[in-house]
Parts: sequence; C-alpha cells; structure tokens
Amino acid sequence: MPDPILLEITDGIALITLNRPDKLNALNYALIDRLMAVLDTIETDAAVGAVILTGAGQRAFSAGADIHEFAGSVRQGRNAAVRDFVRRGQAMTARLEAFRKPVIAAVNGLAFGGGCEITEAVHLAIASERAQFAKPEINLGMPPTFGGTQRLPRLTGRKRALELLLTGDPFSPQRALEIGLVNRVVPHEALLPTARELAGRILRHSPLAIGSIITAVTRGLNMAIAEGLQVESEQFAALVPAADLGEGINAWIERRTPLYRGC
Ligand code: COA
Repeated sequence: MPDPILLEITDGIALITLNRPDKLNALNYALIDRLMAVLDTIETDAAVGAVILTGAGQRAFSAGADIHEFAGSVRQGRNAAVRDFVRRGQAMTARLEAFRKPVIAAVNGLAFGGGCEITEAVHLAIASERAQFAKPEINLGMPPTFGGTQRLPRLTGRKRALELLLTGDPFSPQRALEIGLVNRVVPHEALLPTARELAGRILRHSPLAIGSIITAVTRGLNMAIAEGLQVESEQFAALVPAADLGEGINAWIERRTPLYRGC
C-alpha cells in the first residue's frame, strides 16, 4: 500500500501531501492516523518552521471522510461511530488548528466535507482557481463531524455558514475568498509557489513569536475577550526570558536584521 501521507522537507517548510489520489484523497482512518504521527514528528523538528498541506493528483485536495469506512463504524452503533470516526476526525482538525508552527492549506482541487474542514482548521489557506468547496454531509443525512459546524460559522458568520451547511451546494474558490475561508485564489500553477512564498515571509520571524501568536489567536477566538487578553498576556510573558525577544528589540534599535535562534 502506498503511504497515505507524503512528507518532504525543504527550506524549513514541511510539504505534507494527502496521498490517496484514486479516492480523491478521502480521509480514511489510516490516513488520519499517519497525518497525526507526521505532525508529532515535525512538531519537534527544529528544521521545520512551517507546514504546507496539499493533495496528490489532479482533482482533489480531499473529498472528505472516507464514506465506505465510516459507514462501517456507523453500522457498529453509536459508541463505535463516535469513538472511531468523530473523535478521530475532530482530534485531527484540533491538532492542525493548535499546531504551534503555521499550517497553510494549498487547496489544489475538491475540498469537500473533511477537506473543507481541514481548510477551516488550518491557519492560512491558498486556493487554486481549480479548487471547489462543499459542505455535502447533509446529502448523507448527517451534520459535519470534524468541526465543520463550529469553525465555519466562526470564520464566515452564522448565516453564510448555515446556507452552505443546509444546502450542501458546492461553492467556488472566489466565494471561499469572499467569506474568509481562504486568504487568496491563484492560478493553479502558482499554488505551491505562492504557499511557499507566504511561508517564507513568516519564517523570517522568531518561531517563538509565531507560536505565541497562533496560540493567542486560536485560543482567544473561543473565549470572552477578557480571558483572551489573559492568554495574550501569558503568551507574551512566556517570551520575556527568551533570547529571541531581546534579539528582536536590539536588532530594531541597532537597525539591523535580527538573527533568531528559536530560544
Ligand atoms: N469517501 C470514500 N471514497 C470516496 C470519497 C469519499 N468521501 N469521495 C470519492 N471517493 C472515491 C469514489 O468512491 C471513487 O472510488 P472508486 O473509483 O473506487 O469507486 C473515487 O473516489 C472517485 O470518485 P467518484 O465519485 O467516482 O468521482 P466523481 O467525479 O464522480 O464525483 C465527488 C466526485 C466529489 C462529487 C464524489 O466523489 C462525492 O460526492 N464524494 C463524496 C463527498 C462527500 O460527501 N464528502 C463528505 C463525506 S462526510
């Protein structure tokens, strides 16, 4: 069996490719488990500062959860369906969302169901002009289960999200841009170069500052502002003893480029 996840590390960027092109990169349990293992590996790898996530083949980023496989869990009953399918998928999107290194989705084609939920969960997203999005779970008689009922309304507003969730209709990358699901739409050939260029502009900065910003924004969004401000304060306080903060400030005062060491 080919590896369902491909990993390639260059110039501080881990390119992760969802690799089941014959199945439109549907997210079966083996793929999700392997993705989680790869995230564990690169999280502590100092050679990796950012992640780009894309799909193999010409057609899909991901057509969502593997329907054949989770149908088996549903047939086993409520406990198995929640344990094997829902918790696994929610853990994956939560892990991507909370990852302390920036994760950029490079949406190269269909992003349906779980593919759309991955796009919702990651920090930044670039879509090819060939991308197409949908929240099609309602066609199967179910709601989304990998966070799609929670993150999409937070990103786009309740009514925009409900229209997509309740109709299941596909939508264009331009619409995804309008509603704040992706940062940019680019010609297909420019997809990975654009994602790499964006990652490169982030990688100039201290990895500690990058991680603290991601954590403060991600956690704070789901809190009342007073609690969010406390998270912001804690994230800053944790950086005060770090060499990177002193280096950033000194470099500005001395009018030179900072040299960050990530400590
Ligand atoms: N789960 C499992 N397999 C999937 C899949 C999914 N979500 N999406 C596509 N595939 C498989 C198909 O079974 C097919 O495999 P096969 O050739 O072995 O039968 C292959 O990928 C190609 O898909 P196919 O349906 O033939 O392509 P299409 O161009 O006719 O249709 C879609 C494309 C995306 C419209 C259609 O595949 C689809 O509706 N997929 C499900 C999307 C979805 O509901 N996702 C949310 C799940 S909760």
